[in-house]
Amino acid sequence: MTFELSKLVRPNIARLKPYSSARSEFEGEAEIFLDANENAFGSPAGAGFNRYPDPLQKELKAKIAEMRGIRADQIFIGNGSDEAIDLLFRIFCEPGRDECIICPPTYGMYRVSAEINNVTISEVPLRKDFSLHTEAVIGSIGSRTKLIFICSPNNPTGNLMDRDDIVRIAKSFNGIVVVDEAYAEFADVESLISEMSRQPNIVVLRTFSKAWGMAGLRVGMAFADAAIIELMNRVKPPYNVSGIAQRAVLSALVSVEQITSWITETVRERTRLADELSRLSIVETIYPSDANFLLVRTTDSARIYGELLISGIVVRDRSRVLLCEECLRITVGTPEENDRLLNALRSIEAAGSADEVLPILLGGI
Ligand SMILES: Cc1ncc(COP(=O)(O)O)c(C=O)c1O
Repeated sequence: MTFELSKLVRPNIARLKPYSSARSEFEGEAEIFLDANENAFGSPAGAGFNRYPDPLQKELKAKIAEMRGIRADQIFIGNGSDEAIDLLFRIFCEPGRDECIICPPTYGMYRVSAEINNVTISEVPLRKDFSLHTEAVIGSIGSRTKLIFICSPNNPTGNLMDRDDIVRIAKSFNGIVVVDEAYAEFADVESLISEMSRQPNIVVLRTFSKAWGMAGLRVGMAFADAAIIELMNRVKPPYNVSGIAQRAVLSALVSVEQITSWITETVRERTRLADELSRLSIVETIYPSDANFLLVRTTDSARIYGELLISGIVVRDRSRVLLCEECLRITVGTPEENDRLLNALRSIEAAGSADEVLPILLGGI
């Protein structure tokens, strides 16, 4: 199938002359900046905060490009990868007319962004083993389908999607396939970024919020063909990533060793947690995970969720999500946090068996 970007873009976006900020017009060296109506005296927050940040995050992109072996013009940086999701809707989907495909159970923001942008959602549920229903996805593509979202490893199920399935979908579609790799650092697998040169309709989302430990800074990325990135830059708010976030991420990029060791420890703890959880009678299934969380089917998710809260532990109740009845999603914590969780679950299990045994004992009196 031939992919023609110009036919896919909303006409108003294709025509759009983006806002030209003072800082994006200026190139080179200067001593006095009287171009952006900033406070020339300074900032109570610290040196440099009185100035607008680089709207195109050039230094950060150059570093990421070098680390990934791609070009800077193939990188979009946003206020979290959630911003990239919303921008893709706004660039490609005509509100009230166009459609997207999502594969539930999956990350909730695809639906929320679609609804905000008044885009019809076509749902193609995952199979029972949480793999992609590739034929059904391809079969659901209509003339108004512009975006297909595939999350790999998937939230909340934790599994990777088959690379060949994703490529097959991209080949069968003349719209955009968004591959959300927010949790890819925890999986031992090659990114779909390497597929972009063969399949220019693939957009890969990554984030600094998970393995990189910078959720509070709100920095996410999209990797795509330069023409798609140019559209994203055109539509984004001019200063979408703060100066402090740009500088903090840039300085954190030297800490690859620290991140790698945290990933190793998270994966080790994931295995230990799964092993310990499997010994509990209140746990029915622990789904295999390639991410930093486990999806766990329990005997009574509402009770366990509530009792954990009383112990001061919050997990994610996913029991009302398709295919996830009675399931809790548990983030892998530090060894100490995981121990506290396991102890709390053991107490809940013991209290539950006391509840079952007591009426039998009392009945015998
Ligand atoms: C699959 C997935 N994609 C994207 C995000 C959002 O990431 P960010 O913090 O970069 O907006 C999340 C956050 O939980 C996620 O689970």
